[in-house]
Amino acid sequence: MGLELDYKDGQTPLNEEEKEGLKIKSITTQGELDEFEQLNIEKAVEWTIHTKFKSENILTEKFIKDLHKKMYSDVWKWAGDFRTTEKNMGISWTKIGIELKNLLDDTKYWIENKTYLPEEIAIKFKHRIVSIHCFPNGNGRHSRMMADIILESIFGKEIFSWHQSNMVKANETRKKYINALKKADNGDIAPLIKFAKN
Ligand SMILES: Nc1ncnc2c1ncn2[C@@H]1O[C@H](COP(=O)(O)OP(=O)(O)OP(=O)(O)O)[C@@H](O)[C@H]1O
Ligand SMILES: [Mg+2]
Repeated sequence: MGLELDYKDGQTPLNEEEKEGLKIKSITTQGELDEFEQLNIEKAVEWTIHTKFKSENILTEKFIKDLHKKMYSDVWKWAGDFRTTEKNMGISWTKIGIELKNLLDDTKYWIENKTYLPEEIAIKFKHRIVSIHCFPNGNGRHSRMMADIILESIFGKEIFSWHQSNMVKANETRKKYINALKKADNGDIAPLIKFAKN
């Protein structure tokens, strides 16, 4: 019995060792995995609703890891641990720590100096962190949740709507999302902001 996963456009495949990190052995299909991950993520959302975060704690490596752990630790042993393998997306795994530190420093600078509007800061952060691709999987959903936390807990604004979708299905919404990310890769962040607010 093995775990057979189907990957959608813009997804990072897991290697065999990462797959062995599955804690719930009864899961065999992508659909079951999506459901268990979604349940775990809903618990993490509850946690963010009931916890007051201090601004200065959010933009830290510890918080980035803690959030990933909260989102996926019921399902994956490696939840909250940075990846140690190369992926089809993201930078070399050896540079994750330093690139994340650069991103955290830049973001703090943007906030202090009001370089951009709050929603621009949250979305720029989201795009950069998912481009680093800190974790073996779950980076997309983690990055969207980080953007919401930045907007709400640092700026006191309402969270994004992200189409009210977790985007685990390969549908029109996901296509729009991936297209917006590709535009952001080329330096145009506006479509991703628009998508996040729709
Ligand atoms: N061209 C791209 N530029 C930047 N980021 C991208 C691009 N293509 C995909 N991504 C990001 O990578 C994520 C997929 O990574 P990963 O599989 O680790 O995340 P996930 O949470 O499991 O998936 P998803 O959020 O896609 O359901 C996508 O959600 C998207 O945010
Ligand atoms: Mg994935």
